[in-house]
Amino acid sequence: MNIYIKNTQEIKKMRISAYLASEVLRNIKQYIIPGVTTTELNDICYNYIIKKKAIPGCVGYHGFPNSICISVNEIACHGVPSKKKKLKNGDIVNIDVTIIKDKYYADTAKMFIVGKTHQLAYSLCKVAKQSLYMTFPIIRPGLPINIIGKTIQNYVNTTPFSIVEEYCGHGIGTSFHEAPYILHYHYHEDKIFLKPGMIFTIEPIINAGKKDVFCMNDNWTICTKDYSLSAQYEHTILITKNGCEILTKRKNEKIKRTYFNQSK
Ligand code: MF3
Ligand code: CO
Ligand code: CO
Repeated sequence: MNIYIKNTQEIKKMRISAYLASEVLRNIKQYIIPGVTTTELNDICYNYIIKKKAIPGCVGYHGFPNSICISVNEIACHGVPSKKKKLKNGDIVNIDVTIIKDKYYADTAKMFIVGKTHQLAYSLCKVAKQSLYMTFPIIRPGLPINIIGKTIQNYVNTTPFSIVEEYCGHGIGTSFHEAPYILHYHYHEDKIFLKPGMIFTIEPIINAGKKDVFCMNDNWTICTKDYSLSAQYEHTILITKNGCEILTKRKNEKIKRTYFNQSK
């Protein structure tokens, strides 16, 4: 399993593609209103990506038919945009954007709430976001890679929610998914250590009910087995000399771009 360490030139390119992916998410927010179909949202993102002279990364990926994934309520991930899927007040919606710019991929996702929703839905989205954010002040070179899953699991264990185990974060660069693979739960691993120049995603999927999911008949859409709500946030991050840089940080997102996490 080869883990590519990106050089300065590659990191520059990744910053550009990651910024663009983050802008797709920032731009789509205004269109997420009751009555809009997920195909309409897909098309708006597609046009935005093309206008910036980039390529949507999902379309054609193992046969995926659209530009982005849109996963509503009990859909955990890989939701396929559809003309028949109209958003309604109270829905929680994951939009997962992958773009390619100048040969480099970037991948990021966040939750949106349609109008107003209920307490459980808010709190699930908040926990999913926190479970990702929690890892940023921890990550630094030299730590074993399972520190990420351990951090997420320790946190989610303090909530009523569960972590989906079938999907993981991934190295990213000139390919969409590459080593290292980042599990979001605690597991035993003592061989892979974080190193400056690694670029990967972290993208925990958190369920309101049980952790189990299944794949629907379209062979893409992943749904919670108990039909409980599901939420996911994703960022593409770079390991730096002393911490990490959140490459897909949105302009208006209330986190730091760079974390200095020197050991004491
Ligand atoms: N963007 C997803 C990820 O975070 C992968 C989507 S694959 C697709 O890794 F084919 F469904 F687009
Ligand atoms: Co990803
Ligand atoms: Co993604």
